[in-house]
Amino acid sequence: MKSFNKILLLAVGFVFVFAGALAFAAGTQEQKAATKAETTKANVQQVVLNNNTPKGKLEIFSWWAGDEGPALQALIKVFEKRYPEVEVINATVTGGAGVNAKAVLKTRMLGGSPPDSFQVHAGQELIGTWVIANRMVDLTPLFKQQGWMKVFPKDLLNLIGTKDGIWSVPVNVHRSNVMWYIPDNLKKWGVSVPQTWDEFFSIADKIQAQGVTPLALAQAWTVKHLWESVALGVLGPDDYEGLWNGSLSWTDPKVVKVWQTMDKILKYTNKDAASLSWQQATDMVVKGKAAFNIMGDWASGYMSTTLKLTPKKDYGWAPSPGTKGNFIFLADSFGLPVGAKNPDATVAWLKVCGSKEGQDAFNPLKGSISARTDSDLSLYNVYSQSAAKDWANNRIVGSLTHGVVANEGFMNDFSSVIEMFLNNRDPQQAANACQAIAIQNGIGK
Ligand code: GAL
Repeated sequence: MKSFNKILLLAVGFVFVFAGALAFAAGTQEQKAATKAETTKANVQQVVLNNNTPKGKLEIFSWWAGDEGPALQALIKVFEKRYPEVEVINATVTGGAGVNAKAVLKTRMLGGSPPDSFQVHAGQELIGTWVIANRMVDLTPLFKQQGWMKVFPKDLLNLIGTKDGIWSVPVNVHRSNVMWYIPDNLKKWGVSVPQTWDEFFSIADKIQAQGVTPLALAQAWTVKHLWESVALGVLGPDDYEGLWNGSLSWTDPKVVKVWQTMDKILKYTNKDAASLSWQQATDMVVKGKAAFNIMGDWASGYMSTTLKLTPKKDYGWAPSPGTKGNFIFLADSFGLPVGAKNPDATVAWLKVCGSKEGQDAFNPLKGSISARTDSDLSLYNVYSQSAAKDWANNRIVGSLTHGVVANEGFMNDFSSVIEMFLNNRDPQQAANACQAIAIQNGIGK
């Protein structure tokens, strides 16, 4: 017995020493990252001042593959025209909302082999994940040199900046809370676009009776995407923001109602959702198999650029039920990670990302609008022009699913809550679980 206790003691001791060593290693890694960040910060200043001709390879990492690719290719084309001596490696990991790409990126960043530049959402996905870990280089000198402090909206600058610097270059503004439909089909089925979820429920049976799915859904992240639109619709903008600033508790009966509404909506969605991509859910609407879909306005990019449909004539849109006058926004951006192999080429890439020419080549194909205030709207289709108008006049709130309002930790845990809810459909339990993960991840502090 005595020798068993000894072994146990030794084992416990070993675990402590091992854990201590790990913590120390993590600590020194952080320090190394911080010093490297300082050095590369000086480099940016230099690169910007020297204005060297960039050469060599430039690896750009994103999830804009396949159907999502044309807009990025247009942006790369602008880059290649300006910097013919750089070879662009367009590294993509397919999967909507970056579900797969973000995991690959994490492994690469932590393993010390970051791409030269990568797609990241403005807001907490950038700040709460990579900036607090000292993995990004401050781009303030570039913003000043390019005059971007004046052309990007102040609120957007606040989302990509901290008191220590500016950490990425936004390429677009997307809207999350949009309901898509085919006007001719609605006419055929004798229904109109629902303004509220109650209106949706009152027409859903009629749609279903005609053998049509009322609302097309795809894999789990699109349920999360739907959730933020439902939350805004049920709560209104003040309470929606209250979830992120801590003024509304996740267990408040109003939030339980969001989950109850979700439960009701899910009864009107397709059974094979889990195996579909977001494009396939859009296809269901286009082909008349479903009446509506709630998706960000990259769906407009897909319908107009890939499927060659004409907005207004071939497809219609409206704010998701209950969210008129409100705009859930997100912005894709690119930055310079610490340890990037070719900072000269990356800075050149970022100049193109933030330029008027780059943004007005990229966004008309993407379904998003330019993040700049001086973009040429005549280059955009009627959908994007209407989004630009709403961006200027609506109440703006941030997206959860696309990185604005919460850090990566909360986002991942929230995905687990969604999975749990899809299995047990228990609104109170989902609300309780959210309260717990909000505390764990410091949300609402
Ligand atoms: C979002 C991203 C969009 C679009 C979408 C679907 O997270 O911001 O640009 O790619 O995912 O994959």
